[in-house]
Parts: sequence; C-alpha cells; structure tokens
Amino acid sequence: MEKTELAHCIYSSAETKTFTHEEIIALLEVARANNSQLGITGILLYDNGSFFQVLEGEPSVVQSLYDKIGADNRHRAVSKIVYEPIEERDLSERTMGYADITREELNRIDGLNDFFCGQQSYIDLDEGRAKTLLNAFKEGKWRSSIS
Ligand SMILES: Cc1cc2nc3c(=O)[nH]c(=O)nc-3n(C[C@H](O)[C@H](O)[C@H](O)COP(=O)(O)O)c2cc1C
Repeated sequence: MEKTELAHCIYSSAETKTFTHEEIIALLEVARANNSQLGITGILLYDNGSFFQVLEGEPSVVQSLYDKIGADNRHRAVSKIVYEPIEERDLSERTMGYADITREELNRIDGLNDFFCGQQSYIDLDEGRAKTLLNAFKEGKWRSSIS
C-alpha cells in the first residue's frame, strides 16, 4: 500500500484580544472536532498573548486549514515558520493538544536557554527554535502537561 503523504506547518500569531481560559477551551473543542474529521493532529501553545501551533496531516489539508485559521480575526500577525513534508507524525496522539506551560518550563528546554525572557514570545521564534520546541513535546518531556 502506498504511504500517505504527510506535512507539518508550524506558525505563530498574536491574539487580537485577550483570551479567557473558557475561550481557549471553546476554541479547542471546535478545533478537535474539525481536526478529527480532517485527520489533523498537533499542538497549541498560548503564552503572553501569542500562539504557537503545529498542524500535521495530509499536505493539502494542512495548507487549507492553515489558510482558514489564518483568516480568523481572533489573532493577527499569523506567520508561517515551517511548512514541509514529514515522514511521520510527531504528535499522533492529539487532534489538538494544549499545554499550559510556564515561561520557566519553556526556558528549561535544552536549546531554548532562557529565550523567553522579557518581551520575547512565540512570535519571535525562528525555525530552529520552533523545531526545538516541537521536539521537546515529541520526546514526551512535557507529555504530562498536555491536555
Ligand atoms: C490560534 C487558533 C488556533 C486554531 N486552531 C484550529 C484548529 O486546529 N482546527 C480548527 O478547525 N480550527 C482552529 N481554529 C479555529 C478556526 O480559525 C475557525 O474558527 C474554526 O475552524 C471554524 O470552525 P467551523 O468551520 O466548524 O465553524 C483556531 C483558531 C485560532 C485563533
């Protein structure tokens, strides 16, 4: 059987208005329902008004979901950091995992070394750091923090 093509997209963005915890939960509920239909897996992080999201799945589905999310006026400055083919999913267990991790925890990730201080947020991540962050989740180090 031919192997299904896969790609992932990693982006960051900035909220246009402060999200309450309830609003994040509501967003995740919609995202998870849609993503399970679309065969999309991934993770969403939210810190200090900025989002970091990984979407993985069939390439055209990932691209069209990214376009749809990008048009959502609850965030702005939606910036694609990585879009590339992948061999296998890094986050296959989650239709959209959500991890509420602290800046202290982020700064303890090897390779990020105190990147998140002061005004730095997810929107400042470059490709290397974005992948370092994804790898920290892939390795399962933060598995217990993912809901
Ligand atoms: C930061 C952020 C992340 C989102 N992630 C997803 C997602 O992973 N999947 C999804 O379907 N919608 C996601 N959305 C919501 C979409 O922009 C859109 O509101 C939703 O898909 C509409 O769903 P509906 O077509 O079922 O009404 C996200 C929105 C924001 C602001």
